[in-house]
Amino acid sequence: METFPNVFQPASDGILGKEYELKGKWGDQVFRNSNPIILEVGCGKGEYTVGLACLYPDKNFIGIDIKGARMWKGAKYAVENKISNAIFVRTYAEMLESLFAQGEVAEIWITFPDPQMSKVRKRLTGTRFLSIYKKILCPSGTIHLKTDSPFLYRYTCELLKANHLQEIVNTDNLYECGLGDPPLSLKIVSIKTFYEQQWLSRGKQIKYIHFSLQGADTLYEPDVEIEKDDYKSTHH
Ligand SMILES: C[S@@+](CC[C@H](N)C(=O)[O-])C[C@H]1O[C@@H](n2cnc3c(N)ncnc32)[C@H](O)[C@@H]1O
Repeated sequence: METFPNVFQPASDGILGKEYELKGKWGDQVFRNSNPIILEVGCGKGEYTVGLACLYPDKNFIGIDIKGARMWKGAKYAVENKISNAIFVRTYAEMLESLFAQGEVAEIWITFPDPQMSKVRKRLTGTRFLSIYKKILCPSGTIHLKTDSPFLYRYTCELLKANHLQEIVNTDNLYECGLGDPPLSLKIVSIKTFYEQQWLSRGKQIKYIHFSLQGADTLYEPDVEIEKDDYKSTHH
């Protein structure tokens, strides 16, 4: 990982509560352009980061994950295939505010996160993380969630409802819903992550929500009981 030019590994204790040296400068100093910056949070092997980078050469993509062994695969693929608009940052999503300036990010993809059914603070669509995303997203910025978990899907729907947040697309069965808009369906359907492929092979329905945080100053957790599902983390 240290030899890859497209991987950044800021030390957590060096940036916690501080500003990383590239904060606000990813466009100028790393991508060397002013194209929109799109994050994949919990990117694993980075299928969305490199897949979207190939589909959208006029946008910049950054995969974020704490697990280096997974990220290595996406980073290696991007280097070998000269995909210069995809890079990776090995860090905790909790650090995003130290890494990105207010409004520096145009979109966030959250792909097949662990639903964290008993730990709301670790849930990547919980109010703790949405409040962090809000600080780095531009005003028109949006968030995409792809998940197999009925719990996480329902929780996120309830959170959006409780906070009157705008749903742009919402489906509990992505591959059966016949999304009409070709550019959108291209992004959502044509790229399948490592975890997604596993869930699909087990016959799970894939859910997708595209939403905006606009208008929400303070975010509240939904006050509803959500039935837990049978999600089991697989380790690879
Ligand atoms: C279930 S895997 C999904 C990986 C990939 N997106 C996929 O669909 O194949 C969840 C990933 O999120 C990462 N992750 C979870 N919480 C994180 C956090 N707070 N900061 C950084 N990465 C996190 C894990 O390390 C793991 O690689």
